[in-house]
Amino acid sequence: MSSPGPLFRPYDKLVTIHLLDRGVQVPANNMLLRALQYVAAERIAYGRFCWNEECQYCRIRYDLGEGTPERTALACKLMVQDGMRIRELSLELRYCLRELQLKLPEE
Ligand code: FES
Repeated sequence: MSSPGPLFRPYDKLVTIHLLDRGVQVPANNMLLRALQYVAAERIAYGRFCWNEECQYCRIRYDLGEGTPERTALACKLMVQDGMRIRELSLELRYCLRELQLKLPEE
C-alpha cells in the first residue's frame, strides 16, 4: 500500500495574494488551487474539482498588479505568484471559500 505524498509541493516561503478584497498568504511554488487549500483545506478538498483542466469549476480572472492585463485562467493549472490579484472566482470556488466571507463585487 502506498502512502499519499505531501499536500503541497516544496516551498520556501509564503506569498501574498489578493482574493477579491482579502489578502491571504499561501505557499509559493504551488498551483493556485492547491495553494488555496492552505486557507480552506477541507472545503477545497471536498469541492467538485477535477484538478485536471476538465471541469472548469476552478476558473478565475486575475491580474498581477496595477496596470497589468486581466487574464482568465484555471486555478488548477496556474502557478501562484506573489501579488496576484484574483478579481473573479467561479461559483464553486466562492462556495468553497465562503468562510473567508469575501466581499463579492456588485453583480
Ligand atoms: S479543477 Fe477542474 S478544471 Fe481546474
